Amino acid sequence: MLKVKDLHVYYDQIKAVKGINFEVHEGKIISLIGSNGAGKTSTLLALLSMVKKSGEVLHGGFSIANLSTANIVKRGISLVPEGRRVFINLSVEENLRIGAFNNDENYQTLTQKMYELFPRLKQKRKQLAGSMSGGEQQMLAIGRALMSEPQLLMLDEPSLGLSPKLSGEVFEIIVELKNRGLSILLVEQNAYAALKIADYAYVLENGKITLQDQASNMINSDLIRQKYLGG
Ligand SMILES: Nc1ncnc2c1ncn2[C@@H]1O[C@H](COP(=O)(O)OP(=O)(O)O)[C@@H](O)[C@H]1O
Ligand SMILES: [Mg+2]
Repeated sequence: MLKVKDLHVYYDQIKAVKGINFEVHEGKIISLIGSNGAGKTSTLLALLSMVKKSGEVLHGGFSIANLSTANIVKRGISLVPEGRRVFINLSVEENLRIGAFNNDENYQTLTQKMYELFPRLKQKRKQLAGSMSGGEQQMLAIGRALMSEPQLLMLDEPSLGLSPKLSGEVFEIIVELKNRGLSILLVEQNAYAALKIADYAYVLENGKITLQDQASNMINSDLIRQKYLGG
């Protein structure tokens, strides 16, 4: 459903992404793993036309490389940004409403769906997002991204800063979304957790893809063990 060809991202003189190719297949979890500074966030922002880039991005065979961010979201691609970035001075309910910016007529129905998926958000719907725990904010950030009814959900390091238990809950939600038919592009430094739920994975180092394989193969590879899984 998504095909990325020879993607480059530049910040003035800095080359953050240097000609990568990857694909996301329908109904699968694809993971992009890499350490800090590898170019993971830049890749996701490039897919949404949020940074300067070159290369081709095909969505269902249609080029979206030159579309605006809003039009890409309208086509069914949504991002849960790094660091969650919920609006801390707005309530849970208001954060969800903002996620439905292109979809306001379905706002009520979608909100109910989010509360079924995340019962804690319903309990706390009037509470300010900034007063919630990191795990709850991550659930809210995912809920907000789902309000645009994406087919492809991209998540940028959703486990960052969460306890192992809460990360586990977030990864369970990601699997549940896959089971509901969404395609997932999961960016993670936490290679083990990502590989456990992914179908296929790419390793990004210094802006280049250095390895790609079925996630089940990668989790057993010595190279990955040494580099990312602590030996
Ligand atoms: N806004 C920016 N301006 C200049 N350099 C940036 C900017 N954002 C990221 N970079 C650089 O691009 C490279 C890739 O960063 P990033 O995509 O954030 O990596 P990751 O998400 O894998 O940690 C890094 O060297 C980083 O310092
Ligand atoms: Mg990042």
